[in-house]
Amino acid sequence: MKRLTIALLIATSAVVQAYASAAHIIPAPEAYTVGDGSYRLPSEIVVASTDQTAGKEVKPMVSYLKMRGIKARAGSLSKAGIRLTSDASIAPEGYRLAVSPEGITVAASGDAGFFYAIQSLAQMIGQSSDGTLAACDITDLPRFGYRGVMLDVTRYFMPFDELKKLVDIASRLKINTLHVHLTDDNGWRLEIKKYPKLTEVGAWRVDRPEIFPARLNPEEGEPATYGGFYTQKQMKELVKYAAERHVTVIPEIEMPAHAIAALASYPELACPVVDRFIGVLPGIGGTSASIIACAGNDNVYRFYQDVIDEVCEIFPSEYIHLGGDEANKANWEKCPLCNKRLADEGLKDFEELQGYFMDRINSYVQSKGRKAIGWDEVSYGQPKEDITVLGWHGDGNTAVEYARKTGRNFIMSPAKKMYLIRYQGPQWFEPFTYFGNITLKDVYEFDPVGENWSDSLRSQLLGIQALMWTEFCNSPQEVQYMMFPRLLAAADAAWRPAGRNDWPGFIKATDSFLPVLDGNGITYARSMYNIDHKVTPGGGRLNVDMNCIRPDVEIRWATDEAFTDSRPYTGTIAVDKPMTIYAATFADGVQQGKTLKLPLEFNKATGHKVQATDCNNGIAYTLTNGLHGSDRNSDFEWAGWHNGTADFTVDLGKSEAIHGISLGAFANSDICISAPLEVFVYTSDNGTSFRLLKKIEVPADKIYARGANRIELDCGPVDTKARYVRFVAVNPGHIPEGLPRETAPTWMYFDEISVR
Ligand code: ACM
Ligand code: ZN
Repeated sequence: MKRLTIALLIATSAVVQAYASAAHIIPAPEAYTVGDGSYRLPSEIVVASTDQTAGKEVKPMVSYLKMRGIKARAGSLSKAGIRLTSDASIAPEGYRLAVSPEGITVAASGDAGFFYAIQSLAQMIGQSSDGTLAACDITDLPRFGYRGVMLDVTRYFMPFDELKKLVDIASRLKINTLHVHLTDDNGWRLEIKKYPKLTEVGAWRVDRPEIFPARLNPEEGEPATYGGFYTQKQMKELVKYAAERHVTVIPEIEMPAHAIAALASYPELACPVVDRFIGVLPGIGGTSASIIACAGNDNVYRFYQDVIDEVCEIFPSEYIHLGGDEANKANWEKCPLCNKRLADEGLKDFEELQGYFMDRINSYVQSKGRKAIGWDEVSYGQPKEDITVLGWHGDGNTAVEYARKTGRNFIMSPAKKMYLIRYQGPQWFEPFTYFGNITLKDVYEFDPVGENWSDSLRSQLLGIQALMWTEFCNSPQEVQYMMFPRLLAAADAAWRPAGRNDWPGFIKATDSFLPVLDGNGITYARSMYNIDHKVTPGGGRLNVDMNCIRPDVEIRWATDEAFTDSRPYTGTIAVDKPMTIYAATFADGVQQGKTLKLPLEFNKATGHKVQATDCNNGIAYTLTNGLHGSDRNSDFEWAGWHNGTADFTVDLGKSEAIHGISLGAFANSDICISAPLEVFVYTSDNGTSFRLLKKIEVPADKIYARGANRIELDCGPVDTKARYVRFVAVNPGHIPEGLPRETAPTWMYFDEISVR
């Protein structure tokens, strides 16, 4: 038994190594073995079949080859460079591809398998510098049947031709589903003939120059000039173009919330308790985001059914995505029609009312022979009708629990792993966006399947999907920058066999694929070359650690920007006096990533330990690490408290004469971060009994300042002696009305403590 395991391990690693060194194919094939010799590619490849069933595939194969820029024609078997064989034992999207000195043979059971064989072959041909292909044998099939990418065309309206470009690249990566997020609060992007106002009104919003969360709601009568929509003719063209590439387009129509573009067009579909102007939102919307479609009004169901009628005419997909995301029930609770519906239907609460809402549209979708998908939140209302959940919350656990309980299917797109809107590298080098970091490596390593999952749960998982939300995008290039190269990693995670993890091999394959992106005019990030830093205080010193996700680069550091005194980084750098460190990654002596600059400053608190309670992001050490946070509170240099009072104490190590104390606070009410209302500063000699030294009051205009602000909270001149300095900062509670995030709870972020 043991010997067998070892033999298997050796065999497996030989295949993997062969893959890593000999073929840079994304997604990684299930098995790749090197053969003897090579095949010289003719200037035009002749395609022929060895059997009648495969004969049908000759013509599509010629067009698949031409689609990838490879000259090809149908011809006789004796002249064939590519021989097609049909093999019913091969899984639907699987294939075998063999290259020998005599030519290429491809076996598959159907069209999709032949198509995917060509995608692998095209990558091999693209990487050949001398017109030859190394002999090899590939046996391949996908891990998951659903391999998706979602594009949000509501926040940023992606030009139509760019959708085709995305489909084409996705298909090269063997992604088989494009989910288009067509409607939301910020725009309705699909022509619906029965409801022309959806595109006359709903497709257009006021154009605000601020970043998405900072945009104020529209005033009635303000010109709505930003937007656009796709005609039904265009979408049919996209569906056809995608089908030719084995990509299914799944349309999403959001309901009952994220529907303000629809309700701006037809305000009578909102609950009658809404007493304000409904305009297409340029940003998040503040309290207006609670305006949703009325669940008590039968015209609402009629509206969505009519929309579904036209959607089904355009999109032949098995699934229609019905949204269901983040429905705020505040208006439903006040609405007489919604309350009546709740009572009439014997529903327990307003979540169940959403369940009723989704069920009603879902059964209509099913009556048309289709199936429904919904976001996590559709599971809250205990839907009676079968609906596949697209799991997005955190690690995807909401969807997993739903699937466990109901036995229904699900797709994993967890925000922590598959949200391409998040930073893809160290934040100081990236364009402003939301939330935390998901690197290329994080996406590559994503495996949705839990170790303790039952066989049934495993079989309910249809696959995985990468999601691109476009709140911060203003051009196709900005969308592409966020999507690439991470979409390569998502495609690999969706296809390659479970348990296979060859990050260095994937990086090489990525390098080989980048010319394909270049050739298609697609912008991509080089964030994988940038350095992530961590500076931790200890014993009055600072310890500088640096890391790059690419294993094949050298990190060098210097004390001058020109790197004249540069040396290799070999491990933690200990620093005990002010200095600026410059660092970058290099390969063959050439700088690869951006230059990281760490200006390390020292005061009496620097390098000393901080004791903190309830620091939500767990990085209170950054308060004394000699580095100032940037204009992003999420850059891992700001210690954050998301509710209540922030309370933290620095131990200066010994009793020190103190003449000044200050503390940096972050304020940007546009993203719900406020400066504190007031800060109490205490000192102590023993760390247990504290005396109040100063109370710092913060002016109201600073507390809720808009845009990114660093506010220095200063005690003014003091004259005392102490070993411990404690800060107690009071959270102001909520963002005031009239600001973009009105009524939202406030968070607080702090960085350097300065004791002089
Ligand atoms: C989502 O990100 N609200 C689906
Ligand atoms: Zn209502």
